[in-house]
Amino acid sequence: SSGGGPKLIIAGAPASGKGTQCEIIKDKYGVVHLSTGDMLRAAVAAGTEVGKQAKDFMDSGKLVPDEVIIGVVKDRLDESDCVEKGWLLDGFPRTPAQAQALADAGVSADCFIFLNVPDDVLVERVVGRRTDPETGKIYHMTFSPPDDEEVLARLEQRSDDTEEKVKVRLEQFHANVEAVKGSYTDISVEVDGTQKPDEVCAVIMESIDKALA
Ligand code: AP5
Repeated sequence: SSGGGPKLIIAGAPASGKGTQCEIIKDKYGVVHLSTGDMLRAAVAAGTEVGKQAKDFMDSGKLVPDEVIIGVVKDRLDESDCVEKGWLLDGFPRTPAQAQALADAGVSADCFIFLNVPDDVLVERVVGRRTDPETGKIYHMTFSPPDDEEVLARLEQRSDDTEEKVKVRLEQFHANVEAVKGSYTDISVEVDGTQKPDEVCAVIMESIDKALA
């Protein structure tokens, strides 16, 4: 790493476990977690120009246009917290044009983590996923339901987490994944994302430690 903290990218299909792993990784390495999905959902909720441009694409499970998201990410990476602490990019780059834009901006990473999970497992994860709007914590109704009745009562489901929309999201993912991976072959680590979250996490941390050594 060239100073300023670790620079990490986590990639994988919809519901492969990126957000779940990022909650732990960001604390362990003290980096800024940048989820483009979360950033875009916040922009939609706030009704910003970016949010207005992104909304219909997100609702239908499609990727938002490169020109909408690239500028947002580049600006965010330039902010002082990212420069000082390092960052963890979650859900970006997702297209060859996004990877190229990072390269053109002189942004390089220390480690590219790819979570490998087959499509049939992903559908089950998507339909059972719920989020706590107060803490942002991610749950699954079968695999990791909350213990607290109060939390259970306020859980929300994302509007793109239906079987029909995950199909579109998976198509978009498969159309781009090989090209994106191809941009990071020298720093790439492929992780089996079908294991239990803490097992996946252990493998990821070992890989990051190695990359940063
Ligand atoms: P985004 O929010 O990035 O969605 P996604 O990539 O589809 O990823 P998810 O958030 O669905 O899943 P995840 O991998 O974080 O899994 P999680 O940890 O929650 O993007 C949404 C939309 O925004 C896109 O469709 C697009 O429109 C737009 N967008 C975003 N970035 C963009 C970009 N760069 N360019 C263009 N458009 C962009 O886990 C899922 C579930 O599984 C949870 O319930 C969890 O509890 C459970 N789970 C997790 N790990 C395990 C495990 N090991 N075992 C069992 N269950 C597990």
